[in-house]
Amino acid sequence: MEPIHFEHNRAAAGAIARYYESPPLAYVHSYGCQQNVNDGEKIKGVLADAGFGLCDAPQQADLILFNTCAVREHAEQRVFGNVGALKSLKKQKPGLIIGLCGCMAQQPAVVEKIRQSYPFVDLVFGVNGIDTLPQLLAEKLAGGNKRLLQAPAERTEIVEQVPIRRDSRFRAWLPIMYGCDNFCTYCIVPYVRGRERSRRPADVLAEFRGLVAAGYKEITLLGQNVNSYGKGLEQPIDFSDLLELLCKEPGDYHLRFMTSHPKDASRKLIDTIARNERICSHIHLPVQCGSDRVLREMNRHYTVAQYLDLVEYARTAIPGVTFSSDIIVGFPGETEEDFEATLDLVRKVGYMQLFTFIYSKRTGTRAASMPDPVTHKEKARRMARLLAMQDEIACGLVAGLAGKTQRVLVEGHGRQEGTLSGRLSNNLVVEFAGPAALVGEYAPVHFTGSRGTILTGELAQ
Ligand code: SAH
Ligand code: SF4
Ligand code: F3S
Repeated sequence: MEPIHFEHNRAAAGAIARYYESPPLAYVHSYGCQQNVNDGEKIKGVLADAGFGLCDAPQQADLILFNTCAVREHAEQRVFGNVGALKSLKKQKPGLIIGLCGCMAQQPAVVEKIRQSYPFVDLVFGVNGIDTLPQLLAEKLAGGNKRLLQAPAERTEIVEQVPIRRDSRFRAWLPIMYGCDNFCTYCIVPYVRGRERSRRPADVLAEFRGLVAAGYKEITLLGQNVNSYGKGLEQPIDFSDLLELLCKEPGDYHLRFMTSHPKDASRKLIDTIARNERICSHIHLPVQCGSDRVLREMNRHYTVAQYLDLVEYARTAIPGVTFSSDIIVGFPGETEEDFEATLDLVRKVGYMQLFTFIYSKRTGTRAASMPDPVTHKEKARRMARLLAMQDEIACGLVAGLAGKTQRVLVEGHGRQEGTLSGRLSNNLVVEFAGPAALVGEYAPVHFTGSRGTILTGELAQ
């Protein structure tokens, strides 16, 4: 399917300009994954294109937009809490427009809840409406107090060349695909983000070139399952081919990508990472759990043995490679034995980083109707055991790097007063003393020790 190209909506921008005495200000806050953060950057770009200024404080704003995440109940509750807290601001400032968009807005039940219980929310639109935002706002402004609460729009075309205001001047998100077709039984993403669609390689390359030309050093390719990139495109291409294509571009940059689904992670991908120095030697390979029985129940389509095989292959092919993972603790029916199998796997792989979540029931998913007899208290206990083990593993791995010198990308100030914080190719963070002018640049750093999972070091010459 041909993509649509974004066009500036002059009529809507004109209507917005006529409505406000001076250029209005927008506050946009994104929750959730990097895809959503990237959407938030596009929302800001589209708003700027329609004449809005952007601000960092909701109190100053004429428009407040929450770009939401629905992946766990806790994420949704946080959003409802933060939206609720705006009630008094809206009272003081009746002209304020409060909007909710993103993944939560894709769920009819959420839209209904907003309609019923949050009368001060004026605008709701889903993940497919970013480019139409100026038009929606013009409509809202013309309609006075009328609320615009949209049912999620079914739309499958990709919109290219959407204006964007990136949060960083040296690290950029680059989505290569949207949606997800995997339907892991616990996960809401395929329901809220729709079917998987890949961007055309030419469009990815054009954006990539623009980023390199603008001086971006770290470019992270995004997709819910980057390893299935290319399905449905006219041009036969897979994710490894795309990586090869991008790495040919001259410039001073490096590449990361996420998320790599283990079921489709191939040896070809590993070989591609091994061949290309520009690709970081870190693979985020979410395993979710270490029990084959639970993996089947989760609909993950791989076994622990297959997963370990891939990890082994990568370790041999890519010197110094590190792994990180997502783990769900307390999936419905997870037994003590299943959980111990997870601990066992975590120990075997030796992850540098783990993102751990207690299972959260998502209405509409298959797992939501599975019996879930284990108490929350027991799940929390399992989580604590996992975290303790991971902490020990990561601290050991980090400490083992002391004495080495590597090039890092300086990301900002460190937690320790007067230090800078840099990221290694393997995704670890090092803190060291140095001039603030280094932020956004590469610097060679010698690692002298560690503090927990953070390396400490000094600038090398
Ligand atoms: N597409 C990515 C992950 C996207 S969601 C992948 O397949 O790996 C990010 C993480 O949130 C998942 O890896 C999973 O660990 C966690 N997650 C998703 N749904 C969840 C749920 N219902 N409860 C708890 N954790 C969940
Ligand atoms: Fe969710 Fe699975 Fe898709 Fe990841 S691959 S987004 S966990 S359904
Ligand atoms: Fe959340 Fe939507 Fe991402 S549900 S994790 S923001 S795709």
